[in-house]
Amino acid sequence: MTSQTVLDVDAARQRIEELSKVVEHHRFRYYVLDSPEVSDAVFDELYNELIALEEKYPELKLPSSPTQKVGAAPSTEFKQVKHRVPMLSLSNAMGSEDLEKWEERILRGLGQSADEANQLAYACELKIDGLSIALTFKNGEFIEGATRGDGEVGEDVTLNLKTISVLPQKLTPIPVNADGTLAEDANAPGVEARVPELLEVRGEVYLPVSAFQTLNESMLDANEPTFANPRNAAAGSLRQKNPRITAKRRLAVFTYFVYVTDPRIKQPTTHAESLRMLKLLGLPVEPNHDVVHGASAVKAYCDKWALARHGLDYQTDGIVIKLNERSLWSELGNTSHSPRWAIAYKYPPEEAETMLDAIQFEVGRTGAVTPVAILHPVKLAGTTVKRASLHNADQIARLDVRVGDTVIVRKAGDIIPEILSVNPSKRAADSQPFQYPTRCPICDTQLVREGEEVAVRCPNTYGCLSQRERRLKHWVSRDAMDIEGVGEVLVSEFVKNDLVNKPSDFYKLTLDKLMALPRMGLKSAEKAIKNIEGSKTRPFARVINALGIRHVGTTMADLLAENYPSMKSLRNASVSDLAAIEGVGPVVAETIFQFFQEPQVNQLIDELAQLGVRMEDDVEELAREALPQTLAGKTFVITGTLETLERSEAEKAVKARGGKATSSVSKNTSYLVVGASPGSKVAKAQQLNVPILDETEFLKLLEKSD
Ligand code: IVH
Repeated sequence: MTSQTVLDVDAARQRIEELSKVVEHHRFRYYVLDSPEVSDAVFDELYNELIALEEKYPELKLPSSPTQKVGAAPSTEFKQVKHRVPMLSLSNAMGSEDLEKWEERILRGLGQSADEANQLAYACELKIDGLSIALTFKNGEFIEGATRGDGEVGEDVTLNLKTISVLPQKLTPIPVNADGTLAEDANAPGVEARVPELLEVRGEVYLPVSAFQTLNESMLDANEPTFANPRNAAAGSLRQKNPRITAKRRLAVFTYFVYVTDPRIKQPTTHAESLRMLKLLGLPVEPNHDVVHGASAVKAYCDKWALARHGLDYQTDGIVIKLNERSLWSELGNTSHSPRWAIAYKYPPEEAETMLDAIQFEVGRTGAVTPVAILHPVKLAGTTVKRASLHNADQIARLDVRVGDTVIVRKAGDIIPEILSVNPSKRAADSQPFQYPTRCPICDTQLVREGEEVAVRCPNTYGCLSQRERRLKHWVSRDAMDIEGVGEVLVSEFVKNDLVNKPSDFYKLTLDKLMALPRMGLKSAEKAIKNIEGSKTRPFARVINALGIRHVGTTMADLLAENYPSMKSLRNASVSDLAAIEGVGPVVAETIFQFFQEPQVNQLIDELAQLGVRMEDDVEELAREALPQTLAGKTFVITGTLETLERSEAEKAVKARGGKATSSVSKNTSYLVVGASPGSKVAKAQQLNVPILDETEFLKLLEKSD
């Protein structure tokens, strides 16, 4: 051995060890924490480098190498499910050369010559960027759904999957010929409609791009961390312990594999037929699949979708290519990690270089000041990018990004453009580090940074024009008062013309005032007035959301309205009352309480009420229609954890029967209902001679009223 090769081997060993560690770390972030630190493209690069080195130096491969694993061990938070057929991953083709090599390997494996290549049929599908799932149907009924986990054992997410509206709970019978094959024509003689006894389906759960955007907006509203991309949002939503949260997330599914176990129904013979069977069974299938012949036709399919995919409402990160004939699958077999008869063609990450013209600042409705990069327009992943997020002051410092720099922009998860790095070789010699502003760019108030928060805020809540305008835009927005015909542009016009300064001013607008605005037609003005008027009777949860309290988005507003169905009760809630609600933490409780202490807020609420905006839910009225009012006149306090229902559900049950549910025990309390770990309310009830009910007694009381 020459000293040169010794050095090479040493260097390779070191790099393999290093890469194994780094790749394992990123796999953990991605699969277990649903929170990757690097983009998929960066991960793929590291992973492919490790694979290449391991192939070149097989003796150096670590027994625990991350290239030997699929996914990650299932979390112990869910019941574990052993997959009947292991869930493998796919090997990647990073360009047309890799595709050609794959085809050569297939031909060799099948003992075919190159000119027979044109005859091979390939099924091409868009590779949906979500997370794979295995679904089991018994006699047509959906009985179990699991994540991939480590490929052998996954997590039972059946309840969460049941909340997905596009996923049928029951399959549609399919037309089957007498010989068990799938029939072309359901009405032909001898064709019968059947559902398979046992059906295992594989597919991908994903979050549509539009749903991802709405979700992140509401996370932002509630001051919660946003998701980096739709894939992470889908994973985070599917792996929720509480299916009710999953249900709110608008997840969707595409299926792409089917295994039939039924003596009267044959397994499909081609992949195209599998997809047709899935569709006939009523399962969602991505519609843009195709069967093509030979590698160059595959390449043409990939090229066609490189741009077109950006127009879809789901994210795709490549094309999955499978041999269409299923009989060839068993002939070629699998490696430990992936099938030899399929491959994922990955699109390169969408990056572009451009100039940073300026850094501007936006002041949000809660006063958070966020930097925005103003870019020289550049084409990227199907759109022209002119602005990119810079997140916060820390991010600017980390990147050391300066006005005039040449920067690399990338669409994070192909959606939100962000600045990835600076090209230092193109930096001007006299460039200066960026100075973060210390005063509000809108109202010149000294900015503050509170505690651990990364956000810098303008504390001039009522004086800062930007905050005011943002709050007004929030008031009319879809999740808040949902005033159609009064959009962001019109709100800006109102503000510019001094017609609206605070939400109550919307309800004082007249047709004359609107008609005086430039470019305002009679029809639009009438529509705006009508819809503003119509918004007065929105459910109370929307009013709470519309007020724009920090940390309160739609979910929190729903929770608050459930517990306090009127402004009067919500306004009077103490910090401890609020913190007693399951799902409301101490910081949020404090913020809500402080919000209602502000004179401007109280003045606004009173004014809104005077103008006829409804400040309560007529829970009692709704309930009276439904159930006999056997608990009318009774006041309940529920404390501790009940076994069969959540506190909010118990309170709803009381209200639905005409009773009242309050949060503290007083002499007016009729019953205290006590669950596990009740706390101090029991002693108070005993002191005041308030009858105490355990859960069984409480349920009996409810039943009597049914
Ligand atoms: S077939 C044996 N088809 O991509 C594994 N996978 O990178 C067969 N994926 O684990 C997978 N769209 O989660 C297949 N049309 C499609 C797909 C698809 C997305 C995912 C799947 C897979 C991963 C591999």
